[in-house]
Amino acid sequence: MNLKSLLTAATATAISLSVSAAVNTLTVNASKLGAPVQPTMYGLFFEDINYAADGGLYAELVKNRSFEFPQSFMGWETFGGVELKNDGPFERNPHYVRLTTAGHREKHTGLTNEGYFGIGVEKDSVYRFSVWARTPKAGEKATLKVEIIDPKTMGETQVIANAKVNVASTEWTKYTAELKPNVTCDQAKLRIFLAKPDDTTVDLEHISLFPANTFNGHENGLRADLAQLLKDVNPGVLRFPGGCIVEGTDPDTRYQWKETVGPVENRPTNENRWHYTFPHRFFPDYYQSYGLGFYEYFQLAEEIGAEPLPILNVGLVCQFQNDADHQIPMDSLQTFIQDAIDLVEFANGDVNTPWGKLRAEMGHPEPFNMKFIGIGNEQWDSIYPQRLEPFVKAFRKAHPEILVVGSSGPDSEGKQFEYLWPEMKRLKADLVDEHFYRKEDWFLSQGARYDNYDRKGPKVFAGEYACHGKGKKWNHYNAALLEAAFMTGLERNADIVHMATYAPLFAHVDGWQWRPDMIWFDNLRSMPTCSYYVQQLYATNKGTNVLPLTMDGKPLTGAEGQNGLFASAVADTDDNTIIIKVANTSDEAQQLDINFDGFKKKESIDGGKVITFTSDDPMAENTLDEPNRMAPTEAAINVTGKAYSTTIAPKTFQVYIFNKAVAKK
Ligand code: AHR
Repeated sequence: MNLKSLLTAATATAISLSVSAAVNTLTVNASKLGAPVQPTMYGLFFEDINYAADGGLYAELVKNRSFEFPQSFMGWETFGGVELKNDGPFERNPHYVRLTTAGHREKHTGLTNEGYFGIGVEKDSVYRFSVWARTPKAGEKATLKVEIIDPKTMGETQVIANAKVNVASTEWTKYTAELKPNVTCDQAKLRIFLAKPDDTTVDLEHISLFPANTFNGHENGLRADLAQLLKDVNPGVLRFPGGCIVEGTDPDTRYQWKETVGPVENRPTNENRWHYTFPHRFFPDYYQSYGLGFYEYFQLAEEIGAEPLPILNVGLVCQFQNDADHQIPMDSLQTFIQDAIDLVEFANGDVNTPWGKLRAEMGHPEPFNMKFIGIGNEQWDSIYPQRLEPFVKAFRKAHPEILVVGSSGPDSEGKQFEYLWPEMKRLKADLVDEHFYRKEDWFLSQGARYDNYDRKGPKVFAGEYACHGKGKKWNHYNAALLEAAFMTGLERNADIVHMATYAPLFAHVDGWQWRPDMIWFDNLRSMPTCSYYVQQLYATNKGTNVLPLTMDGKPLTGAEGQNGLFASAVADTDDNTIIIKVANTSDEAQQLDINFDGFKKKESIDGGKVITFTSDDPMAENTLDEPNRMAPTEAAINVTGKAYSTTIAPKTFQVYIFNKAVAKK
């Protein structure tokens, strides 16, 4: 039996090898129910960075499907007689292509789409092709050949799926076809061409290819494996559409939710600032199609059981990229405020209101029950509270039921942080968004961060955080362990910390800009990281109320004399369990003697289980080839009574779930 299995067997046996001499006596007061753990705790931060939306969660496989990228044929290769036109049927996406004869029966006219780092298709799965098309001249007919090709093979095997589409109307019409590849290919392409070289002219717009198998089967849907990973976290909140992309590099490129709703064909393309933010990771063809827009975000939140938390622009474009003189003037703020107010109508309004009607037409007459709104991302200086103030006033008047989230800037401490927190209190923001991408020693030193926060002011939303560890490996185990240790402090302070979201969420292995991230994927595969598992362990074991847990009368925060231990306890009054989370960040195994105080005479512990996340290699991580290398393991705990002794291995995070029992006699 190795050390890990010994420990997961959860016996009380002392382990002689490298066990610290200290006995850590932890006391849980099992009857003193503390602050409720908010249902919003442990959530997800979604931003279209690292190809998280287009090329990621949004299941569309065609890049630049409406020819609206500034270089109209980005993502496409054309052959034969292909012409770009700009008087198409969709006002906000006017471009389309005209295919005419290549001039000889032996020649071809058509175009090939490269997808996002290729197109991933699975053998025998169904893919739905669609295109808006017309024949410009009455009485003409055209047949399109639609093929999924594997560009790495030659000859007959190159075409791995095909279909025909007959176009015979001068009216713009949506045509569809199904394709079923006969092999799996992670970097296929989509090719469309006139079936007969001397065929008639045809116009094509909004060329699209989706897997039939999307999350919950929605037509304009999400990649099933990625959305399922989100659901499996059991998230309490879904923040969208990001971070920096909310702000934009300039006013025109800010995220405007109204452009992201309604028919997908008429949602305009926006640039994505992450295409140029990091010159060493430059992706000039990274744009936002808005196919994954605010309706889809609300729908996703609902389907994964998370509260929706939209973040809107406060009237400031990215402050890293613009000085105060280039910001939206105060007297132009009304549109921004109206956008925010209208969003409540879109999400919650009656179907007889203009925005509520649109939501109903899109398929969701029931309200989305939005309760929170974030105004501004990580803004700073007086230009932020100055702009936030009229939003808060407008919301208090029009929608006092909506809680407003303000920001404390990009740093976890320092001048702006010190300035903005009192400003958020003054404005009576309901929650304050804090961001911290920090190194190991920061996470080790912040176990008590929230213990002394003012309980009378706004609540905390730890809205973007991740341990950015040393070394070349980014999503390694040790970073996740330190996040787990730090999060005991979030849990212990449930009265003030109401939301927390690790960031960023997704990264495409071929298209990332920022790391570490919670979930990595390529065109066909996906992989939870160690940090993912930590988030999931918290979210699936969050309990209902905090319980006091102390060692020598003090909470375990990794402080001096606590042997590198961090811990928190919650009761789950629905399941009748007591859940204790312990992170041992030290290099030694630690003995834990857990005493349960406060039980009534007939109450005791009666068995349970322990979930262990450990590694003897701090740099260990999952990869797409080995996605399950690092994962928590579960074992039963056989204990009855009012105390439990165990040993926690070095560098280990454990979640103990004890059943509470009441003796009958
Ligand atoms: O998560 C990546 C970026 O980090 C976010 O867009 C921004 O808010 C922060 O600076």
